[in-house]
Amino acid sequence: MSKTAKLKAYIRTYGCQMNERDSEVIAGLLVQHGCEMVDDGERADIYILNTCSVREHAEDRVRGKVNLLSLKKGSGGKPLIALCGCMAQAHGGRLLRALPGLDVVCGTHRIPYLPAMIEESLETGAKVVDVSDDHPHQAPLRRGIRKSRVKAWVSIMRGCDNFCSYCIVPYVRGREVSRRPGDIVHEVEGLAGRGYREITLLGQNVNSYRGGASEDGDLCDFVRLLKMVNGITGLSRIRFVTSHPKDVSGGLPGAISRMEKVCEHIHLPVQSGSNTVLRRMNRNYTGERYAEIVEKLREEVPGIAVTTDIIAGFPGETAREFDDTVSLMEEILFDGAYIFKYSERPHTAAAGMEDTVPMGLKKERLRKLIDLQMGISRKKNRALIGRSVEVLAEGESPKDPSMLIGRTRGNRVAVFPGESADAGRIVSLMVEDANATTLYCRKAERKRRITNDQ
Ligand code: SAH
Ligand code: SF4
Ligand code: F3S
Repeated sequence: MSKTAKLKAYIRTYGCQMNERDSEVIAGLLVQHGCEMVDDGERADIYILNTCSVREHAEDRVRGKVNLLSLKKGSGGKPLIALCGCMAQAHGGRLLRALPGLDVVCGTHRIPYLPAMIEESLETGAKVVDVSDDHPHQAPLRRGIRKSRVKAWVSIMRGCDNFCSYCIVPYVRGREVSRRPGDIVHEVEGLAGRGYREITLLGQNVNSYRGGASEDGDLCDFVRLLKMVNGITGLSRIRFVTSHPKDVSGGLPGAISRMEKVCEHIHLPVQSGSNTVLRRMNRNYTGERYAEIVEKLREEVPGIAVTTDIIAGFPGETAREFDDTVSLMEEILFDGAYIFKYSERPHTAAAGMEDTVPMGLKKERLRKLIDLQMGISRKKNRALIGRSVEVLAEGESPKDPSMLIGRTRGNRVAVFPGESADAGRIVSLMVEDANATTLYCRKAERKRRITNDQ
């Protein structure tokens, strides 16, 4: 009988959707090993932290959590604390010295071995570390216990080759590897057959997807993959994240507009509006090129929602360079933006640049950009008042269980009255009120198909 049998396990996930997806895979592996997954960390015998290294703040939160858990460890050493994911890969065994309460450290390539590492630690009482990248794991990506029964994440590639100068991801996730198109299609067909309505294709840079050998021997590119997935019956919606502007192909706007299941939304991180900063970031496009791509997308896909990521206070960012970002945001008018303060990361090229922007100024610039975007998002959302939107009902709203929550095709959050039995249905709603983050809706009188938010 396995050492983990009947033990209660809990996973706390930090970071991006790729980590969320890995956590589903980990849950599947643990259940295969006889564990019971619980939703309450307090009850766990095994506490797993699937971590993110993208900013110092993400790591600080994990360190705080491990210290708190360590204080709670009982005489039997419970809970066992396992740290996996990007922070494990970035720091390896050194984490054991900094965080003595840790029992297991498992790198991003070693996920299939995590249950065995936990068993070994339980059996011997020893600390177990494996952050090797000898045999990057691809194997059990399809399985796992999915969190939602309505929408599913499907990983189409791992890793990243771009080496943006600020970013740790290529160092902790390894080189870019695309999954085979046939495997992806097979997985999505399985999901559609089990009643999933929406899938999101996941990768750090989905537009550089090149999947191995199709029948005619060609590598399958992203637009072709979209076409294959769009042909799967039973599915209602297809999304994809993240798109890198340098790899958006000329065929992508047309593909989004032609393929009825592909939602009218693109997450297209710009990072900065200044060409000199973009060069220092190693992004390989200019602000003008970015604006051109958005113009083409808006032309070919009327009403497409464009969201982005922006970094404030990159090393050497001058007042003028910062103003270029403000101007670009005012010009593009994003539907939404995640805005971050620059955080120096180990291994990266930017860590060797002089960080000339003092913390106070970084915070000020961050605040300014967030305020600017909040105003734009609010205005755009409020422009939808009185309009109909198509929403996929996902389930009860966490803030008010008498309401349902879902997303429009443009990825806006909508809250509306309904029964939990409606989860998984596509509903036609009328927008009654809105703020920068949420549309408040009611059921539309007449059912009619709406293709986008605007
Ligand atoms: N692959 C995606 C993004 C992955 S990380 C892409 O290329 O767009 C998500 C976001 O975190 C990035 O878009 C960037 O805005 C932000 N980010 C990454 N490294 C950062 C750092 N060192 N400091 C602050 N923000 C960072
Ligand atoms: Fe990081 Fe750039 Fe890769 Fe995105 S594309 S994960 S920002 S290195
Ligand atoms: Fe974070 Fe790793 Fe994702 S560093 S953003 S969890 S790839």
